[in-house]
Amino acid sequence: MIVYLNGEFLPLEEARVPVLDRGFIFGDGVYEVIPVYAGQPFRLQEHLQRLENSLKNIKLQNPKTRQQWTEILEMLVAKNKGNDQAIYLQITRGPAKRDHNFPTEVVPTVFLMSDPIKAPLPSPGVKAITCADIRWQHCDIKSIALLANVLLRQQAVEVGAAETILIRDGYVMEGAASNVFVVVNGVAITPPKSQFILPGITRDLILEAMQAAQLPCQEADIPETQLRCAEEIWITSSTREIIPIIRLDDKPVGTGQPGAVWSQVWKIYQDYKQKLRSNG
Ligand code: PDD
Repeated sequence: MIVYLNGEFLPLEEARVPVLDRGFIFGDGVYEVIPVYAGQPFRLQEHLQRLENSLKNIKLQNPKTRQQWTEILEMLVAKNKGNDQAIYLQITRGPAKRDHNFPTEVVPTVFLMSDPIKAPLPSPGVKAITCADIRWQHCDIKSIALLANVLLRQQAVEVGAAETILIRDGYVMEGAASNVFVVVNGVAITPPKSQFILPGITRDLILEAMQAAQLPCQEADIPETQLRCAEEIWITSSTREIIPIIRLDDKPVGTGQPGAVWSQVWKIYQDYKQKLRSNG
């Protein structure tokens, strides 16, 4: 695998970051995960916009222009042949003597790598659990400091589930690494954007595509009680696309099978990807 590190393309094994990098010491950085289908980046402008927002929120200057990001991404994709890949892009506040306040001269570390994406089959559905959302108050920043998310996801994996759905003050927020939709009376609902959730690119695309197809959907608060009696629950992310949850906390969701609305939206999503592929 060829990666990009601070201006150079090199094999992963040769990429080195100083141990005093503030990403390593403090988790002081932000990231993006951008899917690429048949060489075509998926919703690139939206990902670069969210990256800009994250950087602004942590007061770190964007080290590249959109044009430069696009060029680096294209070169990395070309160097890592293979059709479908997920590009991981991380920027940290760089190496400096350990001190909480920002260094006077920041030399950010810029790192990108690529992971192959397997073509997802229609999912037979997965299990999820719920947990109290123990994260901080700025979940809209795509921060690399993911210890809470890591611990929350691990809790799911330890009981054979695929994701943890997070509840804050009685309301559904999102998954440990995904957004959440529920279907109630045939209407797909996802929580509105706020500082407590990551504004998912997949989430936005699903809302847009459902509206275009005149399928009922809305952004609204989801009380925990509504989650527990939903006809369908889905989790969405760049790498997992749209996955139906068929058991929640060991109880069946709806019929206990992937739902009809999920199936429609999944097809629309696959068509969107197919169109992107044929643009190449
Ligand atoms: N995570 N919420 C959280 C907390 C996430 O970590 C993610 C994605 C999402 C979905 O966002 P998007 O649709 O833009 O991928 C929501 C990525 C995939 C990750 O950390 O690997």
